[in-house]
Amino acid sequence: MAAARTARTASLEQLLAAKEIVVTCGAGGVGKTTTAAALAAMAAVRHGGRVLVLTVDPARRLADALGVGAIGNQAVRVPTAAFGAAGAPPRGELWAAMLDTKSSWDDLVARHAPDKRTAKRILDNALYENITGRFVQSHQYIAVERLYELHGEGNYDLILVDTPPSRDALDFLEAPERMADFFASRFLRLLTAPYRSSVVNMASKPFFTVADRILGSQFLQDITEFFSLFQTMAPGFVERATSVSRLLHDHRTAYVVVSSLEAAPLHEAEYFVDALAGKGFQLGAVVLNKVLPAYLLDEPAGTAATRLVEDAEAVAARLATAGVGEPAQIVRVLTEVAESFLRFQVVAQREAEQRAELGVATDVLVPVPYFETDIYDMAGLLRLGDHLWAPR
Ligand SMILES: Nc1ncnc2c1ncn2[C@@H]1O[C@H](COP(=O)(O)OP(=O)(O)OP(=O)(O)O)[C@@H](O)[C@H]1O
Ligand SMILES: [Mg+2]
Repeated sequence: MAAARTARTASLEQLLAAKEIVVTCGAGGVGKTTTAAALAAMAAVRHGGRVLVLTVDPARRLADALGVGAIGNQAVRVPTAAFGAAGAPPRGELWAAMLDTKSSWDDLVARHAPDKRTAKRILDNALYENITGRFVQSHQYIAVERLYELHGEGNYDLILVDTPPSRDALDFLEAPERMADFFASRFLRLLTAPYRSSVVNMASKPFFTVADRILGSQFLQDITEFFSLFQTMAPGFVERATSVSRLLHDHRTAYVVVSSLEAAPLHEAEYFVDALAGKGFQLGAVVLNKVLPAYLLDEPAGTAATRLVEDAEAVAARLATAGVGEPAQIVRVLTEVAESFLRFQVVAQREAEQRAELGVATDVLVPVPYFETDIYDMAGLLRLGDHLWAPR
């Protein structure tokens, strides 16, 4: 077991073979959802077994391609025909689910409330939806909670988990502890004080005197009632949050940090990689997504583009004699193409510098090219997955 705990993997292919849960994380818009879906599709095709991808808010077309458009929390099997159309019959099964925060909260309440009546009172409370929806890190907590649930059901050999966009990449990892802390917090005790003790004289407490004046006593009473009911779920919630947290730290769980080669997402990726190590989570790989092709860094190609711009008229004259078209039009096309190449070359050079400076220690650093179109169907996922799979 100790060997498995410390075993290093050299590729995402090996990582997916060795783990039960792989979580994609990173800055907003870098490709977390796409990477999770592509890795899941690849694992189903190449490794087999039952693979689940738990997505958060996928783009509409991707959700449709996975068949999770309208179904919400329920996992659905991606039809084999979808793979057939992409020319890659799967050895295993690909399942997909989309995170449905509202119904996951309802399930949690039903599970942790001391009895059905209390559960109903919580669900019927006017503030329930608003408060649970706005709860700090509600989305993050629900994502890890669903993961825990799905993993515990034991129906899948591998679960790929997408993470919600958040202000801080650590929100996801810390969500269970924060939830447990919340139930033990002074804030919650303060809010529920009038309910817990009939001897507390609300008017004598400065907090309630002020709150009553600002919020009105009905609203204050609703809040107090809500949190008092909510607190009845504390023991179950705290225990559960502890188990969820343990699963995130488990050696069967690894994290794939996704980033583009732009300064801000890279900075966040570096911070995240450090934080993972510092908090005892296992980094599996770093994916550098949307990277420009290496041929853009080719110096002779840059020289050729520069000469095309400078000598456009002479080149156009020669091409015109070969019957390509009118010299003026050829000049326009040549200049446009060569200048565009040079502009891309500048960006590619900047990317290469960013990559050289990347202060991240990982055995698995996987560059993935920027495709000319968005990735929204099985063929696109597998094409991207091919680049992720094994180092070239
Ligand atoms: N390598 C790539 N080439 C081209 N397009 C890509 C690539 N990777 C991702 N995309 C596209 O970029 C967009 C954002 O990707 P995605 O939704 O996976 O990002 P995300 O990190 O999950 O975003 P969010 O933080 O909003 O959840 C999508 O339209 C996706 O199709
Ligand atoms: Mg996403």
